[in-house]
Amino acid sequence: MLPARAFRVPRLIITGCGASEQAGEEIGKLGLKRGLVVTDRALVKMGVLDGITRALERSGIGFALFDGVFAEPTVEFVREGLEIYRKNGCDFLLAVGGGSPIDTAKAIAVMATNPGSIEDYQGLGKIKQKGSPIIAIPTTAGTGSEVTPFTIITDTRRDVKMLIGSPYLMPEIAIVDPLLTLSLPKEITATTGIDALTHAIEAYVSLKAQPMSDIFALSAIKLIAANLPRAWTDGGDIEAREKTMLGALQAGIAFGNSSVALVHGMARPIGACFHVPHGASNAALLGVVMDFSLEGNPARYADIARAMGEKVSGLSDLEAARLAARAVKRLIQDIKVPSLRELGVEKEKLEKLAPKMAEDAISSGSPANNPRQASKEEIIELYHQAYQG
Ligand SMILES: [Fe+2]
Repeated sequence: MLPARAFRVPRLIITGCGASEQAGEEIGKLGLKRGLVVTDRALVKMGVLDGITRALERSGIGFALFDGVFAEPTVEFVREGLEIYRKNGCDFLLAVGGGSPIDTAKAIAVMATNPGSIEDYQGLGKIKQKGSPIIAIPTTAGTGSEVTPFTIITDTRRDVKMLIGSPYLMPEIAIVDPLLTLSLPKEITATTGIDALTHAIEAYVSLKAQPMSDIFALSAIKLIAANLPRAWTDGGDIEAREKTMLGALQAGIAFGNSSVALVHGMARPIGACFHVPHGASNAALLGVVMDFSLEGNPARYADIARAMGEKVSGLSDLEAARLAARAVKRLIQDIKVPSLRELGVEKEKLEKLAPKMAEDAISSGSPANNPRQASKEEIIELYHQAYQG
């Protein structure tokens, strides 16, 4: 008998080419008047926001702009954005960008109604009051943050990426428009795509997996494995972009309801200490962590091999599971995700920091969802293996 489980998604998800042009109309239906657009200056310069701001104007919705989210979100970004939000009398957040603007907007939304500062809410279920409504429009096919009840904010004083989870962080509306991903450079297509694949794989093997999240996780693995290499090879391939983005969305729905596991638990400290792209940290870890974890639930990893199109007939679950890990490593190589070494991570520094990183990974709670539990020593060893590649 299955235990009772909640399954959460935004109130409304709109997908498809040109979907972002509907932003104004849908926000208007919620009775909202003035938004804080949280984004990255580079996207503004590239004109990515033009269609969205026109859509707001058409519907008579006012907005102020916070375009200072140029890197992974920090406590300072949240404070700065909240000040602009209050000064302009905003009543909702509109996040446009990769995971960073969306995560920043989520934190601003809850800090608009909760006392103290965002560091007070690290962990799961600590936020007491519902925040301002969040409308999320991703411009990468990766983070899935548009459909999850989580945000990751870096506390720069402690070099810790804080995982904050609460149903109040779930966006009201997610608008997923593949046309916004057409101009993504190859390297970002690769790293964000592997982030999405990691979400799907971890959601499927997580100890918190549930039948509702399994459907989305397996579908996401199929879509991403089949289409990410095509989108990487030809960024203008709309069908590949569309299917990869749909996969990233489904992966977000999956892990939003079943959590991530050891890879993400270990990836966050790499990001906090070395400031490498989140997807590249995941890519360095995914294969080695799968090799370590697959004996914890070979049948689930065998399903992943099938979803990735591997030929598994006649193989035992364990043999098929090993093919899944191999297929993931091959995909990461094919789309040339840069290694930690190529991103400038120094071996000596990693070795020195690995014990603290292992502790931070464990205390985030994500490794506890892994199908095979890892001790601190095993996590340190996995960091070493990830560096060797
Ligand atoms: Fe991620």
